[in-house]
Amino acid sequence: MNMEKIIDENKQGEALVLNTNNKNTRKLFIESYGCAMNFSDSEIVASILAKEGFNTTQNLEEADLVLVNTCSIRDKAEQTIRKRLQKYNAVKKINPRMKVGVLGCMAERLKEKFLEEEKIVDLVVGPDAYKDLPNLIKEVEDGRDAVNVILSIDETYGDISPVRLGGNGVTAFVSITRGCDNMCTFCVVPFTRGRERSRDPQSILAEVNDLAEKGYKEITLLGQNVDSFLWYGGGLKKGFKKASDIQKATAMDFAQLLDLVATEHPKMRIRFSTSNPQDMSLEVLHTMAKHKNICDYIHLPVQSGSTRILKEMNRQHTREEYIELIDNIRKILPNCSISQDIITGFPTETEEDHQDTMSLMEYVKYDYGYMFAYSERPGTLAAKKLEDDIPEEIKKRRLAEIVALQREHCAFRTEEFLGKIFEVLIEKESKKSDQHWAGRTSQNTVAVFPKENYKVGDFVMVKVNDCTSATLIGEGVGFSDNN
Ligand code: 5AD
Ligand code: SF4
Repeated sequence: MNMEKIIDENKQGEALVLNTNNKNTRKLFIESYGCAMNFSDSEIVASILAKEGFNTTQNLEEADLVLVNTCSIRDKAEQTIRKRLQKYNAVKKINPRMKVGVLGCMAERLKEKFLEEEKIVDLVVGPDAYKDLPNLIKEVEDGRDAVNVILSIDETYGDISPVRLGGNGVTAFVSITRGCDNMCTFCVVPFTRGRERSRDPQSILAEVNDLAEKGYKEITLLGQNVDSFLWYGGGLKKGFKKASDIQKATAMDFAQLLDLVATEHPKMRIRFSTSNPQDMSLEVLHTMAKHKNICDYIHLPVQSGSTRILKEMNRQHTREEYIELIDNIRKILPNCSISQDIITGFPTETEEDHQDTMSLMEYVKYDYGYMFAYSERPGTLAAKKLEDDIPEEIKKRRLAEIVALQREHCAFRTEEFLGKIFEVLIEKESKKSDQHWAGRTSQNTVAVFPKENYKVGDFVMVKVNDCTSATLIGEGVGFSDNN
């Protein structure tokens, strides 16, 4: 559920703009916080509401409807959203007809309580109820608060063609699974996003075809746990827990889905996120090795390097099994970059456990990572059975130590690129210079280089001459044969 684009929850949400030509327009301001799945879901919501005549605006003060897609992963994420709601409160004084809706994980977690706790909120809609938005908005326009937080076992929004919001026209998310069944004890996601379900591969392919026709060059297959993608021909019927023999015979797993998409679209770069160590199969690694267009990059959260803590977290693997997977990645995909998520200060974590995490990091030398202090989430198994017993100062100190170590490893990995030539897909102008393009290598490392005659969407061979700890600096030496 993370990725390079896990949009840091402390960052201001981005206003997403949609322009339709519908005459009967009302103005929608929609912003997203949290993980890529939320950003992808907002594109589904925009599509549903475009049909209702909603035209988006970046100007809060003129919005008829404000929707905020929320994140509950850590307490800080929720606090950020509450602060944002205060801002809406201020705007409502200037624009009293404005209605405010909350979507996503916080909506699902708080349900009706949201209406009581935050008076500004008129509408609460959970992640599986977006198709009900047109009805709910009517309720709100008639002056009643509206709530739908029903979770589904089969909603995948596979029939909705997302409106691409705020993008660069080059890279896009394609959602392939929703929900999570893993029940890591720290994680609120199984409660806010419900049971795991996979999307029909045909609708996934149709979406990728559409993106290819529109000129997109890179897709990221998205899911809380992509490796557990499993499609039984026709899907499992409600109430049936087990697949029939026929369903098993026609099943498609994640490695097969990757193979299908990569074969159908040999020029499309393919990424995926997030992988779960316990579910990632060797077949996935072999499929990556087989297809040049599947990127050499795996986001592989480990959370802790201590087998004891992993067990407390209900991660279904040991430190040794994780290391074995890393060794297999290095063997099968020698140029693959790997990133991590780590939590420090999980209940009962000792200095020794913390050292286990540090030594695992030393072993892997991750290209980069996302590190967090443990934040107890109401309703999770950890909250129910374990005391949040690591003092904040200790959590912070351990976090600072792993962040510092990761910084060293980032620099080490980035320096490995020096003097070599890599294919870079141009996504946009560099933030620091309007004379340079910015894009990413297959390994997901950002590279900047002079614009010359190249343009956004080109695959360019870039010679790396210099680097900062996270960015490669180079020069284009010609087009790649992928154009
Ligand atoms: N506290 C801190 N970090 C968490 N994550 C998930 N739940 C929590 C929590 N309760 C982190 C995990 C996960 C990433 C998306 O967020 O590292 O992989
Ligand atoms: Fe949460 Fe674990 Fe599922 Fe990721 S795999 S969403 S951390 S329960």
